[in-house]
Amino acid sequence: MNRTLENTQAIGVFDSGIGGLTVANAIINHLPNEQIIYFGDTAHLPYGDKSADAIRYYSLKIVKFLLEKQCKMIVIACNSASSAAYKVLLDFFEGQALFVNVVDPLVDAVAKQNYKKVGVIATKATTRSNIYKHKLLELQPSLKVNSLATPLLAPMIEEGYCNDSISDAIIEKYLSDPSLDDIDALLLACTHYPLIRNNVEAFFKNKVNIYDSTDVVAKVVEEKLKHFDLLNPANKKEHQFYVSDYTPSFEETTQVFYNQKIALEYCPIW
Ligand code: DGL
Repeated sequence: MNRTLENTQAIGVFDSGIGGLTVANAIINHLPNEQIIYFGDTAHLPYGDKSADAIRYYSLKIVKFLLEKQCKMIVIACNSASSAAYKVLLDFFEGQALFVNVVDPLVDAVAKQNYKKVGVIATKATTRSNIYKHKLLELQPSLKVNSLATPLLAPMIEEGYCNDSISDAIIEKYLSDPSLDDIDALLLACTHYPLIRNNVEAFFKNKVNIYDSTDVVAKVVEEKLKHFDLLNPANKKEHQFYVSDYTPSFEETTQVFYNQKIALEYCPIW
């Protein structure tokens, strides 16, 4: 580590918008002593439709901001950014903080099982990167991995459609895709999707094992902080939530992802 890290420093968490609050929430519930500094890049969402180069550029700038806030760890709470930008972030900033992406914890959890076929649903950017197939096959070469882009799901969830006829129809349409026939497990490879986990489980009649990036990521955060002796023994500091573009509607939507409305602070880093 080039920078001396203190256990009282915050954990920086970022996403394209507010979907990554599902990950922040899981970390807060799992590690109540930790302070979170969250950055939602609402000026540029959705990342799922952006090129890998654009996502890398945005991510570099956000991490610079979070490092200036003295974060001891950066959690990339976005699959699109984890798949496009994790390597470049390490190239630029390794040694200045600990880094956690949301892809590896899911891959490790799934690869421990003896599945024959798994499905991955994600944004276009994550699907195009093929990162899950790549990483899973490295650990389990005989596994069949089918990835499906499901771009309507993130905006649908942000608009609050999770448990009604509209969301049911969209979810059913995607999950009926023949590429997902006979899967043993499905990875919800977008940080918005924990909100439709119940709908997905119901669609598969609880016969398919579902993985999302909340608890598995929170556990990896804990393990990594513990390993470096950086768990905060007692936090007294308030969490901070920044966005690169502010509208009242973003603030309303935090309720969907965080179980309570959060005050968002506008922070134009561009
Ligand atoms: N939360 C982002 C992810 O996990 C998806 C939303 C977006 O497209 O920006 O990929």
